Amino acid sequence: AVPVDFAGEHQAGVTTPAQDRLHFAAFDVITDSRDDLVSLLQDWTDAARDMTAGNEVGKFGAVAGPPVVPPEDTGEALGLPASQLTLTIGFGRTLFAKDGKDRFGLADRRPEQLVDLPHFSGDRLEPAICGGDIAIQACANDPQVAVHAIRNLARIAFGRASVRYSQLGFGRTSSTSEAQVTPRNLFGFKDGTANIKLEDTDTVEDFVWARSGDGPTWMDGGTYLVTRKIAMRIETWDRESLEGQQGIIGRAKGSGGPMSGGDEFEPLDFAANSRDGEPMIGEQSHVRLAHPDFNGGAKLLRRGYNFVDGSDQLGRLAAGLFFICYQRDPREQFVRIQNNLAGLTADLMNEYIVHIGSGIFACPPGVGSTGYWGESLF
Ligand code: HEM
Repeated sequence: AVPVDFAGEHQAGVTTPAQDRLHFAAFDVITDSRDDLVSLLQDWTDAARDMTAGNEVGKFGAVAGPPVVPPEDTGEALGLPASQLTLTIGFGRTLFAKDGKDRFGLADRRPEQLVDLPHFSGDRLEPAICGGDIAIQACANDPQVAVHAIRNLARIAFGRASVRYSQLGFGRTSSTSEAQVTPRNLFGFKDGTANIKLEDTDTVEDFVWARSGDGPTWMDGGTYLVTRKIAMRIETWDRESLEGQQGIIGRAKGSGGPMSGGDEFEPLDFAANSRDGEPMIGEQSHVRLAHPDFNGGAKLLRRGYNFVDGSDQLGRLAAGLFFICYQRDPREQFVRIQNNLAGLTADLMNEYIVHIGSGIFACPPGVGSTGYWGESLF
């Protein structure tokens, strides 16, 4: 399989057909020097170019360098193909100003779209897995390739940025292309059926890429990333009846088709009633509350991953969905939809999930064959 192009008008890893594996990392910048920040972004871009092409990092790579210094590449991806690795960068609010301090002279460059996410009903966020000055999403079809990429970027950042938290994901929960089969999440349901697909070019233009006039010009062609680590109460869910599960989601578990009838890609019919006069797609079902018709037309490009961080002290799976979505304006998209979903009286699914991590990042436009990540910002 061919590697995914690193260079382009937009960053890869957004509309790129979702790969199977994720290693997501949020970094804190630990220098106050603007020059160090720029040099970090330049070094990262060089390494990202190498790794996404399936090459070793640096001039000498893992084993061809001088034996008296640590190798430029850590080596565990030697012999592995690029595995469709994509690396996607985003800048958090704290990069622009942190605790009122403008460390890098960027305070007036912060886009309005990069909002401080409101507290949503039901949130139980753990600060240690929230935020970050810079996020890097590594996606690949081989877990070792994704882990190698983040590990090498973290190593390169030494003295300039440190990892705040990172998350592994093992199964995509969305398709972003019509050519992909819809995968399943840990509730056992097909996930990504109604997602924005790269083939819907008009929808991608309208809902994913920031365009001229939207905000600061440095973001033209960029996009906004929202991440949510969502814990799922797997064992409780597993005790819910099939009928109950399908009612909560609003789709059939087997086919993924709407509860109003038809196959997976049949449109949802919210007006359809059963014989007893009840709506076939319940008013508190997830798909209804998340649907554009009930959110002022808002859509998201979802690109999340399943995670299992082992089991907790009670023997329950420490599992869930690392929710990732891309959009042109989080205020009109993620925030709007999540407000509709949040709260125990809203989405029936809330009984089975808890949001524990959160992040919002401005992802700059793509990089050409020269240049570096975020160059337009400086
Ligand atoms: C649809 C699961 C969280 C937004 C769906 C579907 C499933 C699902 C099974 C139906 C298939 C599809 O069309 O993709 C989950 C699970 C979640 C979760 C298990 C948490 C653990 C969220 C969150 C948001 C969201 C946090 C956004 C704030 C959507 C949207 C749709 C959708 C926009 C498509 C609705 C439509 O237009 O039909 N989700 N979801 N989901 N979900 Fe979620």
